[in-house]
Amino acid sequence: MSGRILLFGATGYTGRLTAEAMMRRGLPVTVVSRSPERVADLAASLANQVGRSPQTDVADAADPRSVRALLASASDVLVSTVGPFQRLGGPACEAAIDAGATLIDCTGESSYIRQVFEEYGPRATATGARLLTAFGYDYVPGNLAGALAIADAHNAGRTPVRLEIGYFVRGAMGMSSGTRASAAGMLVERGHAFIGGRLRSERMAARTTTFDVDGQSLPGLTIGGTEQFTLPRLAPGISDVEVFLGWAGPRTAQASRSAAAVDAVLRIPGSRALARRIVLARSDPTTGRGPDAARRSRSRTLVVARVRDADGQITGTVHLDGPSPYELTADLLTWAAETCVRTGTQGVGALGPIDAFGLAATEAGCAALGLVARHD
Ligand SMILES: NC(=O)c1ccc[n+]([C@@H]2O[C@H](COP(=O)([O-])OP(=O)(O)OC[C@H]3O[C@@H](n4cnc5c(N)ncnc54)[C@H](OP(=O)(O)O)[C@@H]3O)[C@@H](O)[C@H]2O)c1
Repeated sequence: MSGRILLFGATGYTGRLTAEAMMRRGLPVTVVSRSPERVADLAASLANQVGRSPQTDVADAADPRSVRALLASASDVLVSTVGPFQRLGGPACEAAIDAGATLIDCTGESSYIRQVFEEYGPRATATGARLLTAFGYDYVPGNLAGALAIADAHNAGRTPVRLEIGYFVRGAMGMSSGTRASAAGMLVERGHAFIGGRLRSERMAARTTTFDVDGQSLPGLTIGGTEQFTLPRLAPGISDVEVFLGWAGPRTAQASRSAAAVDAVLRIPGSRALARRIVLARSDPTTGRGPDAARRSRSRTLVVARVRDADGQITGTVHLDGPSPYELTADLLTWAAETCVRTGTQGVGALGPIDAFGLAATEAGCAALGLVARHD
């Protein structure tokens, strides 16, 4: 392997799962934290668990120079689980851009994703850096399911016009400390949609829909993912890409109405900045908490992509079923980091999974992690 893998945020909930997955794969990982004591404790605990110790390093997102200092060459891969990303993600992006290196992160935050594609992406293209953002439960499966649904349509000689992706969890998932903090931040930010062939800003949860899965009708509300940026690249004729989150279940319609009310208040000049300050001030500083292994084992990932033609008819559906969202996220970050150091990526700039690795390799990589497709 040519590059090193630096896992920033390794002492957090997702970081720890990712460190364990990387150590089990025998990857040359350096675990990084803002705390020398916590990272030393983590390394000792991993050594106990796996029988060998990872390298350690220290960096703090509040000190961007310390994050830059982590990367020694363009072949290094920085994996970041330091969130909320809207607040803490910038220094890792900047460091990867400056070094012409690879960044892989696990954000699910719409506004940060948009910043990566629109602001950091062009700068990364200029330096040859690769930015693989949102490389977890959200939004890798939707990219894969969407790309498979587009390929099915093309193979059948049809033109995909509208793509709808739904994210669901079967069973009781539970949320990590970082997911709660990031979700609170998202409540005061705008989302995005790809409609009529162009990207536009819109409020979170602007629309709802239902997906029929195995005789059940599963509701979801709109959210800004990476798919709105990446999937139109695969099917230039496509006019709409919508991503729906199904976590609110039967409260989906109510959640959409509440989001509309919140958005109306946030449009009052000065109120969004104030709301951001309130979210920051009140956010729980606890890190490293989340569902235990038993609880994770009782939840599964379910992602659906469906394609419509110009008449609005559904012409194909792809379902993906896989392990619990947190285990899937750790395994996807590990798979992407290993693939980057072994074979590299296909492009530069802000990349979706299919841009970076191709459809066949992404499908095979995900299947090896237990994320398996069914085509209807
Ligand atoms: N896309 C997905 O499917 C997915 C899945 C899982 C998680 N996530 C996202 O990943 C993020 C992390 O979630 P989590 O539950 O793992 O969070 P967490 O347990 O709260 O961990 C956050 C990590 O960030 C570190 N950190 C905080 N401030 C820092 C700073 N200034 N400099 C360096 N490190 C800093 C913490 O360090 P300490 O250990 O020192 O506190 C900790 O390691 C969240 O944004 C979450 O939404 C997304």
